[in-house]
Amino acid sequence: MRHFINLKDIPKNDLRKILKDSKKRKKSRMRFNTLVVDKDEPLKGKLLIQMFEKSSLRTRLSFYIAIKQLGGGTLTLRSNELHLGHGGESLADTAKILSTFGDGFIIRTDKEEKITSFKNNMSIPIINGLSPYSHPTQVLSDIFTVEEIKKKNISKLNITWIGDCNNVLNSLMAASVKFDFRLNIGCPKNYYPEKKIIDWVKKNKNKIQIFNDPNKAVINADVIFSDKVISLNDKVNERKKLSQFKKFKITQALLKKAKKDCIFLHCLPRGHEVDEKVFLSKKSKVWQQALNRVHVQKSILLYCFGKLR
Ligand code: CP
Ligand code: NVA
Repeated sequence: MRHFINLKDIPKNDLRKILKDSKKRKKSRMRFNTLVVDKDEPLKGKLLIQMFEKSSLRTRLSFYIAIKQLGGGTLTLRSNELHLGHGGESLADTAKILSTFGDGFIIRTDKEEKITSFKNNMSIPIINGLSPYSHPTQVLSDIFTVEEIKKKNISKLNITWIGDCNNVLNSLMAASVKFDFRLNIGCPKNYYPEKKIIDWVKKNKNKIQIFNDPNKAVINADVIFSDKVISLNDKVNERKKLSQFKKFKITQALLKKAKKDCIFLHCLPRGHEVDEKVFLSKKSKVWQQALNRVHVQKSILLYCFGKLR
């Protein structure tokens, strides 16, 4: 049994194997967004339970379609409808029941420790569907999208992140170590990534460069990523933070400073960090990026269920 909680804890060969499988599976399907089951039905009879403590559109839909295409089924729980935290049932008892009824568990939570507590009390695989610290399924899928569009191993590309140093960036930094790519980060000085993750990247001999100036961060970029300035878990003075990020907006002028064939990616939902013209331009591959989550998450599920080919 394997969990999928943080990219930094998953061996790089396993991550590469997952992407290889996604590529094969995507190639062998005619229609991507339907519930038609793959011929081999590798997860026939399996139940994936999803629990969201905060909003989600893409993650819940893509896992729903993913498990269905693999022959299994899914049930989505809202945490406020359970006894946990409201009716006094313990996390250990909840975890035991989830493990008895289900075969896999996805959790999106505001508390990192909750994932660990569930993990310690469960006997089925757990997938992190976004936490304050990371968003691993999103970022692994984004690596797939980059390589699919650029037709190159990501280690040969210059990746730039412009925006807040949040959960998605933490996972991208972990991915930069696992997949060995160069990563430039552009953000205001007082929002730089946490020292412990920078130290981990450096200890693992990978290069990241951090710029207080977006114009410098995008030079030579093959891919520019961004995300909302205000994340779901952000408890900040929103007005103040947004004003500090004003000069980090992705505009057409900024994009011109990157490579000519640079693409723009964003996990969505978006805020004001990207200009509408960029977001709707040919360089923006956000819809392909969103749909690819189905393919990669299918292989993540197979990895967790010990069924990866
Ligand atoms: N990108 C992403 O995780 O979207 P949702 O919050 O809609 O799931
Ligand atoms: N950083 C964003 C990602 C949403 C998918 C958030 O945590 O809200």
